[in-house]
Amino acid sequence: MTISRRSFIAGTALAVAAPFKVNSAIAADENLFPNALRIPPLLQPALSGDKKVFDLVAAPGKSEFFDGILTPTIGFNGNYLGPTIRVRAGDHVALRVKNALPDQTTVHWHGLHIPARSDGGPHQIIEPGSVWEPSFEIRQKASLCWYHSHLMGQTGEQVLRGLAGLFLIEDDESKALDLPVDYGVDDIPLVIQDRRFRRDGRFDYLSSMHDVMAGYKGDVILVNGTVAPHVVLRRQRTRLRVLNGSNSRIYTLGRDDGADLVIVGSDGSLLEQSVMQRRLRLGPGERAELLIDMEIDQQVRLMSYPDVVNTRQAGPGMMMGGMSGNTETLPILELRAARLETIDRAMPTKLIRVSSWSAAQAARTRTFTLDMAMMGMGGMMGRGGMGAAMGINGRPMSMDRIDFKVPLGSTEIWEIRNTTPLTHPFHIHGIQFRVLDRDGAPPLPQELGLKDTVLVDAGSAVRVIIEFSDYADSERPYMYHCHILEHEDAGMMGQFVVV
Ligand code: C2O
Ligand code: CU
Ligand code: CU
Repeated sequence: MTISRRSFIAGTALAVAAPFKVNSAIAADENLFPNALRIPPLLQPALSGDKKVFDLVAAPGKSEFFDGILTPTIGFNGNYLGPTIRVRAGDHVALRVKNALPDQTTVHWHGLHIPARSDGGPHQIIEPGSVWEPSFEIRQKASLCWYHSHLMGQTGEQVLRGLAGLFLIEDDESKALDLPVDYGVDDIPLVIQDRRFRRDGRFDYLSSMHDVMAGYKGDVILVNGTVAPHVVLRRQRTRLRVLNGSNSRIYTLGRDDGADLVIVGSDGSLLEQSVMQRRLRLGPGERAELLIDMEIDQQVRLMSYPDVVNTRQAGPGMMMGGMSGNTETLPILELRAARLETIDRAMPTKLIRVSSWSAAQAARTRTFTLDMAMMGMGGMMGRGGMGAAMGINGRPMSMDRIDFKVPLGSTEIWEIRNTTPLTHPFHIHGIQFRVLDRDGAPPLPQELGLKDTVLVDAGSAVRVIIEFSDYADSERPYMYHCHILEHEDAGMMGQFVVV
């Protein structure tokens, strides 16, 4: 198959993705972002009594990421990724998820505070041809959440092929803030993913043991499934709702003009106040909301820059080169302002109130040590043999084992310890937590909101505090796991029940 001109251009983008002289190389090539950013459509619900009912169908398809080259993909209600589900706090929501794939799947609502039976983790399998109908009430703050496959041992592959979408929650408190909310116009969702392609167009997945150990990395960046995208803005102020939907890559986002990012939201809520920073690290599963003000005819590129945070601790005999830090500069998206409706308002600084819990309120502390103990053993390539390779507290995930029970109504500290040479994004289902401290130091300013996923660097310990206020169910567990999907699939996951 011949490689088209457009994919050649994308290839050029990657060629300059090698460290340095990137800015000059990019400035020299006006055509680095030739493709209009795709915006996932908003899914219109049907109304049934007081319920909003959303229909999703997971089905195989083909996607033309590069001109004339078809990639076999899977998506919800389309070829790749899914529509955006938008709800309000207080809504009663039902979903009808049909599995039109030849394989089993599940659909997990990442970030949602809902009962375990509706959570869509590995126990809620949807058989081919069948429909799963969870329902729940939205009892949480305005935020950008998401949904994705969570099939035991195959989450990485199903998400890679396209089974993910956004789940937006709005509420009165955030509406009152005068933030942009016109979806696709000044409120722009960005699902950032990286992929590798074979010459025939198929995704290249798990072709080396490195993909499993370090996590899968691609050399092509997709944003909402668009290669080398630009977006044309029509309002002066834009809100970017960013999901790192990658299997394992951590991004260090920044603007190519050196101006600060204005960060207003984290995973499960807005921040208490906006934060200005040149760079923002975002791990797999994490979300961030950014504001950007543009001037007429201005162009700003959102990039991912190298960072060296993770090279602190190389274990004996372990390869460190770029295993988890960013060693590359990657172009993500070009923002283009043509004609602009201007506004005359300062960036908001004070935002919302977020509940917080003090360490003294916690009934107990649990510790979670992430293990890659069997690193370097053979036979771990391919899905089948990876089961026992990784774990938490010395044990790989087992579907039949509940790791512990949390009493309903209790507040707990969970301390995540990382003695491995990689950064891991630790995620907990069913709740939103606050970050209490990182190696005893206060959380990062961009973490001063509710979160469900937190980066834990090599050699660090992070403590989070969680209130388990609802939804006891002694039978059905919630998961906690590393959100590097290859690690999760290899067993770096566990399960708890709230009783
Ligand atoms: Cu986003 Cu258990 O996952
Ligand atoms: Cu989750
Ligand atoms: Cu991990």
